[in-house]
Amino acid sequence: MNKTADKVTTSRLIEMKQKGLRITSLTAYDAPTARLLNEAGVDVVLVGDSVANVKLGYENTLPVTLDEMLHHVRAVRRGNSRALLVADMPYLSYELDSREACRNAGRLVKEGGAEAVKIEGGIEVAPVVKELLRVNIPVMGHLGLTPQAVHKLGGYKVRGRKPQEAEKMLTDAKILEGAGVFAIVLECVPAELAAEITRKVSVPTIGIGAGSACDGQILVVDDLLGLTDNPPPKFVRRYANLRDEALRAARQYVQDVQEGAFPAPEHAYRQPIEAKTKN
Ligand code: KIV
Repeated sequence: MNKTADKVTTSRLIEMKQKGLRITSLTAYDAPTARLLNEAGVDVVLVGDSVANVKLGYENTLPVTLDEMLHHVRAVRRGNSRALLVADMPYLSYELDSREACRNAGRLVKEGGAEAVKIEGGIEVAPVVKELLRVNIPVMGHLGLTPQAVHKLGGYKVRGRKPQEAEKMLTDAKILEGAGVFAIVLECVPAELAAEITRKVSVPTIGIGAGSACDGQILVVDDLLGLTDNPPPKFVRRYANLRDEALRAARQYVQDVQEGAFPAPEHAYRQPIEAKTKN
């Protein structure tokens, strides 16, 4: 049980939308990052399946398995306190049959400590959302650019520019709301469409590359911290350049060891100790 008094819950997020309070969300894949994000006051921590490409070296999110997700969810759970902990359901762990979806989501909750799960898609996953709720697992939706559909979509592109696509996304958002999701991620969606969806659904929208009118924002934490070696997507704002700093430190270490500057020569730390014992 979380001891934090102001623990973020799914109903708290809906209340925040009603009060016009913006929701903050970031991904995390390990315990120290989860601790750091909680200390910073982040409302929702997502163990994204982006762990596949951000941390595990896969090309995209498709290969990551439920067991790999579980490993990271457990780690994040150990570092999490106040934030709502949401776990992504990996590709093919929920689409085929609702019972299997419940079993898999159940593992993320029961063994991993997740407090909610996120699944990608609209009308086609609405029955799964209902089944998950039947076994008491809150669900976050995900529309727009859904990375698990990268091959069908033909790449990582903005979704909803064409009127038909925009119309379908709005309908999907309403269907997800009706099925009972507590929030919807809108990824790479034109700002005006994201604003319209945000106005027309009662649950919060969490945008990533979807403009400023969403009820909240989410980013991949490694993008925000500047930890990635590839340039981040255009919509990302980098708040730090930790990769450059880490590279500088690692190079300095290599140089110091090679030149005998680390560890410090014996007399550098013996002298003060000897001096201290004389006094
Ligand atoms: O996997 C992930 O990190 C995500 C967010 C970017 C929304 O789905």
